[in-house]
Amino acid sequence: MGETDFPPLKNDLILRAARGEPTERTPVWIMRQAGRYLPEFRQVREQHDFFTICRTPSLATLVTLQPIDRYPTLDAAIIFSDILVIPQALGLEVEMLPGKGPHFPSPLVTPADMARLKSSVDVEKELSYVFEAITMTRKALEGRVPLLGFSGAPWTLMAYMIEGGGSNNLHKSKTWLYRYPVESHELLQKLTDVIIEYLVGQVKAGAQMLQIFESWGGELSPQDFSTYSLPYISQISTRVKSTLQTQSLPIVPMTIFCKGSWYALQTLSNLSYDVISLDWTIDPVHAKQVTGGRVTLQGNMDPSILYGTEEKIKETVTGMIEAFGSNKRYIVNLGHGILPTVDPENVKIFLECVHEVGREVAKR
Ligand code: CP3
Repeated sequence: MGETDFPPLKNDLILRAARGEPTERTPVWIMRQAGRYLPEFRQVREQHDFFTICRTPSLATLVTLQPIDRYPTLDAAIIFSDILVIPQALGLEVEMLPGKGPHFPSPLVTPADMARLKSSVDVEKELSYVFEAITMTRKALEGRVPLLGFSGAPWTLMAYMIEGGGSNNLHKSKTWLYRYPVESHELLQKLTDVIIEYLVGQVKAGAQMLQIFESWGGELSPQDFSTYSLPYISQISTRVKSTLQTQSLPIVPMTIFCKGSWYALQTLSNLSYDVISLDWTIDPVHAKQVTGGRVTLQGNMDPSILYGTEEKIKETVTGMIEAFGSNKRYIVNLGHGILPTVDPENVKIFLECVHEVGREVAKR
């Protein structure tokens, strides 16, 4: 797909913020903005299994647009999918158990199990449903806001593939790191190669910005993060961008979200990512100082503030925007995904407050 195949973009605030250009107000979107806190999403989920929605472009489009239709204050859409579509493309079975989350009936146990993964993955074919959903959604958006694509990062995906689902201490995947380092690197590299092709495919299909989720980054010590996460997320941004350039595709902004990896902030700001997404444990002033204006910062309100009073939400938003403090290089978001039991009315209050305060602060 080429840019001319899509309706012209009417709101490019988030793209400008990501590129370090000034914005007249701070752009905002919410991780997991299409999800169970919305009654209209729960209604679709009653009729369809989670991965059926992901695999049916018309349903993925419908659900991606739900928060955009409800909140005209959102400045980006993110394609409805999941990070676990990559393990599925590699040949592992993944199911989504209601109320429990992802479950792998046969996770990887020892390195010998890597033989169960496809030796080469035809990304174009195995993940075509995501690409179709992106193209369909980009058209249906009619240029209202940019469409974001995403992928899980290699370490987070490896951990899911070995733990078989959520886990408190990741001891199974860490066993691999400490007993089978060579095979661990082999698996991480295999994931990296697929992720790169997948992300390029998303841009080809119409994604206008990309986010990489290293949701389990903070489970690693700084040293292990340098060994098992950093080299791969670094490869992803450089190789995605060089491939986009070679294929004459738009070189879209890229965001890295390493939850819990506060120690890596400075290092991350020297990679070729445009945006670093922060969790709520990081002080905005510290983050600005350490990253020295080299990247745009995104985040970082504690998702649980949305359970607070209207006053508390407004007070927190105001403090956050003032601390990140400029009309440049800042995108408002939560520090992690929105929780399923949040009241959609509080989301409205949050978004409207971001607009109001973001405009005021930009004028200063
Ligand atoms: O942000 C969006 O609105 C786009 C869609 C999106 C989903 N998952 C939909 C989803 C995105 C970007 C993700 C990413 C994702 N998936 C991550 C990285 C972000 C993060 O939260 O750290 C991870 C770790 C996953 C894996 C995953 N998927 C888990 C752990 C769970 C269960 C926890 C939960 O919130 O239920 C899911 C399920 C999931 N992915 C749901 C949605 C809307 C809810 C499942 C349902 O409807 O039954």
